[in-house]
Amino acid sequence: MNARIYTLILGAMVMAGLPALQVKAQSGADMDRFIDELMQQMTIEEKIGQLNLVTAGEVTTGSVVSTGVEAKIKEGKIGGIFSMTTPKRIRAAQELAVNQSRLKIPLIFGLDVIHGYKTIFPIPLGLAATWDLGLIEETARISAVEAAADGLNWTFSPMVDVSRDARWGRISEGSGEDTYLTSRIAEAMVHGYQGNNLAADNTLMACVKHFALYGAAEAGRDYNTTDMSLHRMYNEYLPPYKAAIDAGAGSVMTSFNDINGVPATANKWLMTDVLRDQWGFHGFVVTDYTAVNELMDHGLGDLQEVSARSLQAGIDMDMVGEGFLSTLKKSLDEGRVSEVDIDRACRRILEAKYQLGLFDDPFRYCDESRAERTLLAPAHLAKAREVAGKSFVLLKNDQQLLPLKKKGTVALIGPLANTGSNMPGTWSVSADLEHTPSLLEGMRALLGEQVNIIHHQGANLLEDADYQERATMFGRTIPRDDRPEAEVLAEAVATAQQADVIVAALGESSEMSGESSSRTDIGIPAIQQRLLAELLKTGKPVVLVLFTGRPLTLGWEDAHVPAILNVWFGGTETGKAVADVLFGDVNPSGKLPATFPQHVGQVPLYYSHKKTGRPLAEGQWFQKFRSNYLDVSNDPLYPFGYGLSYTTFAYGEISLSRDNLPSNGVLEVYVDVRNTGNYGGEEVVQLYISDVAGSITRPVKELKGFQKIWLEPGQSKRVVFELTVEDLKFYDANLDHVAEPGEFVVAVGTNSRDVQEGRFTLTD
Ligand code: BGC
Repeated sequence: MNARIYTLILGAMVMAGLPALQVKAQSGADMDRFIDELMQQMTIEEKIGQLNLVTAGEVTTGSVVSTGVEAKIKEGKIGGIFSMTTPKRIRAAQELAVNQSRLKIPLIFGLDVIHGYKTIFPIPLGLAATWDLGLIEETARISAVEAAADGLNWTFSPMVDVSRDARWGRISEGSGEDTYLTSRIAEAMVHGYQGNNLAADNTLMACVKHFALYGAAEAGRDYNTTDMSLHRMYNEYLPPYKAAIDAGAGSVMTSFNDINGVPATANKWLMTDVLRDQWGFHGFVVTDYTAVNELMDHGLGDLQEVSARSLQAGIDMDMVGEGFLSTLKKSLDEGRVSEVDIDRACRRILEAKYQLGLFDDPFRYCDESRAERTLLAPAHLAKAREVAGKSFVLLKNDQQLLPLKKKGTVALIGPLANTGSNMPGTWSVSADLEHTPSLLEGMRALLGEQVNIIHHQGANLLEDADYQERATMFGRTIPRDDRPEAEVLAEAVATAQQADVIVAALGESSEMSGESSSRTDIGIPAIQQRLLAELLKTGKPVVLVLFTGRPLTLGWEDAHVPAILNVWFGGTETGKAVADVLFGDVNPSGKLPATFPQHVGQVPLYYSHKKTGRPLAEGQWFQKFRSNYLDVSNDPLYPFGYGLSYTTFAYGEISLSRDNLPSNGVLEVYVDVRNTGNYGGEEVVQLYISDVAGSITRPVKELKGFQKIWLEPGQSKRVVFELTVEDLKFYDANLDHVAEPGEFVVAVGTNSRDVQEGRFTLTD
């Protein structure tokens, strides 16, 4: 339906005694007038209806599923639907709203479009490993183009929860441990989804989540409590949400967790004082899945109480639980909430719909022919293959074992070798699992007859069948071989013996990370390690292709396996992209967005930790009465920002344009980087700063800039970073955003550990 038809409907409303609404409106004042007029006609029940978000049940992440959806749409009791796809189904639901509900208010349609829609890109942690903001924005753009072509107008992304705890399964869904990197990615994704015009038929409204601090769940256990000082919150955990909001994100999703005693969904300080008053957010806030109802389990009272409290905290839309729908009217009658509270929330939802152009044309996202042309378009798949290749992180490559030669026999062994369904990775709900090539298929597609590829599954994913079942849900199957382990191993070794080189495809399945997939042991499962040990005993060169949704502990592997390529879960084109990198068509350039610890007992381990009063002396790993462990050094196995290439890069000495930086000035930092190897390749040049002395304790270093450059063999480039006082600011004890005059160290290098340092002074 277009604006003209909507106007006809409105004409009918006038005839029916209802005042006409002005539809065609561009400016804020027009929108306000339009919504004023609309709201004047709404009953309180219809206003509460707008606050109700239901699921179509295609995907659920909780125990509650929406019921009676059709009748509720007609009664004006639903504002939006999520997890419903295709123009046909969405058109049918929208028709119910705009043809059969009294005020004909269109529905908003959302989905978890997290790292792609049909064309799936690497999991967000892998995307972050590209350190390529332009590319990440392109992936969000393509995701929006595909999802909007399939009827949707709202995505529950970007997920910007900083996490320093590899036990937490959802670390896979974010951009890792760093505040600055996560913030820049948050902006890129919002721009990619929303484009320049939310009302365009190929953009989605973004929803930044999970507000807030979800990534800091105690003990890495999902949905668990967070308790955090304000200065840590403001300096380390909140900036990415703010960055997404400053980039224009239209909506925000609450987190499930408790925050210093008040769960986010009922947290007025967070949802109103911080989000609205301090940050000036004008969009709407939706809860996470049944998060209002879960406030009862948090112990905040009955459904009426927690619903009223959430509304008053600043929540606008209630996802799935229908606490708002079933209790707000009663709370209004009893004076527990005011009509002003309900109006405020309703207005925000209507504004979002207006901005999406839904009043103008509620069916603008429902063109079936567009869906056919757009989904899995060759250009999208090509981009997915390119991005996947750039997300892989080369962790080790002794004697330049990689890239492999395109000849001879390669044995591809392991439970992740031939499973297409696991390649998209967690939270890829709309992925087409049937048509996702496995690594084996990808290698065969790239190499044809050039290389003889032989394959064996080698081992089960996990020894414990029940654990394997929990780790292979949602159709992401990996077959089990129930014969005795020794028999399976012997067969795998016999296969490996026939090859010139062994590629071991091991690690996690896609569902071993993601929501409700926390782990206490973050190593490669023992049964797979035993397989790896047997493969190494053959004396053949072994390449470990590591699948994972989180940092893993790889001490044994690092000590014994000559080459390790971490491929995360690379999306639809994983199989081909891994083949591209293994055989040298693509030179890996990914850098870790999260520290890989030596041992799970070190977690949380992150590069930008605070200084202690008892640091270790330089070069020592243990000293009595110093901050350390008896059994393991404080070092990571692989530091934040780490990743090798098939080529090598040499850094010249860094130099600074000045010794003193006045608060209105610019300091330039220069470094020459040269490709000293034999392959063209990309390097991420990273800049960190540290504040030598402050009014509160400051991290040992913080990322403040990075540049990704391509260098041909022998080529050299000068990289220039500009620093201003803005880069030196932090939230002090009063939560004022300040830069304190004094000395700073600036460090530049290939990762957070291997840096060269310079010094400068911030003057008044
Ligand atoms: C997740 C959210 C997601 C929502 C809707 C929840 O369980 O925490 O990230 O957007 O479900 O699918």
